[in-house]
Amino acid sequence: MKNPGVILVTGATRGIGFALANELVRKAHTVFGTGRKPPAVDQALFSYIPMDLNDERSIRKGIEGILKKSLSIDVLINNAGIGQCGPVEETSIDAAKKVFETNYWGIVRTIQAVLPQMRKAGNGLIVNVSSAAGKIAIPFQAHYCASKFAVEGLTEALYHEVKPYGIRVVLVEPGDVGTSIWEQTDKSAVEKSVYREALQRFLGVKEKEMGTAADSPANVAAQIISIMETRKSPFRNPVARGATFVLAARKLLPDRIFLKLTGGNYKV
Ligand SMILES: NC(=O)c1ccc[n+]([C@@H]2O[C@H](COP(=O)([O-])OP(=O)(O)OC[C@H]3O[C@@H](n4cnc5c(N)ncnc54)[C@H](OP(=O)(O)O)[C@@H]3O)[C@@H](O)[C@H]2O)c1
Repeated sequence: MKNPGVILVTGATRGIGFALANELVRKAHTVFGTGRKPPAVDQALFSYIPMDLNDERSIRKGIEGILKKSLSIDVLINNAGIGQCGPVEETSIDAAKKVFETNYWGIVRTIQAVLPQMRKAGNGLIVNVSSAAGKIAIPFQAHYCASKFAVEGLTEALYHEVKPYGIRVVLVEPGDVGTSIWEQTDKSAVEKSVYREALQRFLGVKEKEMGTAADSPANVAAQIISIMETRKSPFRNPVARGATFVLAARKLLPDRIFLKLTGGNYKV
């Protein structure tokens, strides 16, 4: 990573992206942070760029504006994402597509808009924020998990494609982080669901995971920066409390045992 460099962080208006973008400015980088609405708090140190990841024109306009000001984007951090909650049987295809629109296609669109310049420069870093749920599927969050599994596949293929052009690609897989992503997730399916009881037990576990058990966005931002600064960092990087352990367990345990543990954890 160029030091200092020009860094684009998507989804910087709150949560992990906000902490990350601010910390990168403190480290003397030039940082552009995106979202559909400006940050709700006025402590943003970075330059806010309105960008809707569901809209290709909005992305192209935002990237063109940045390149006019800064001539290059050295680091792209694909962080923006949304949550999802509901059983597979009852979640409409439209609702499922909405999750992919942002979490998967949003990343694809942003990469397509930034890559030509990085490739010409023969240099760059792309950080895709996946999730521990990019490796472990959680009940009642099938489409969120599937979108993150898709991000994992996308990122692995991209790694090979752009390596010859001097572009480094890494995955970040956060565990639970105390942001408002879960609060903002639509849970209206719960009350009418035939899975209501299991869903309610699941929600109880989730509240704890996203509350007192969660790591802080500031810690996670610091871990992501350390990955960015380590030229030889691994391709896959678990971040946030507990993520390394749970992802190692996923790798080592047979499916039969891991599925039993996951089901038990979420009380389904
Ligand atoms: N928090 C966790 O426990 C956790 C765990 C694993 C992975 N992650 C991943 O980490 C990333 C950040 O999550 P977070 O917890 O920090 O979420 P968050 O607090 O809800 O912030 C999400 C950010 O994404 C932006 N965003 C959402 N939809 C967008 C769209 N269509 N176009 C442009 N920007 C959009 C939001 O801004 P606007 O709404 O203004 O557009 C906001 O800035 C996500 O990819 C998430 O899946 C989070």
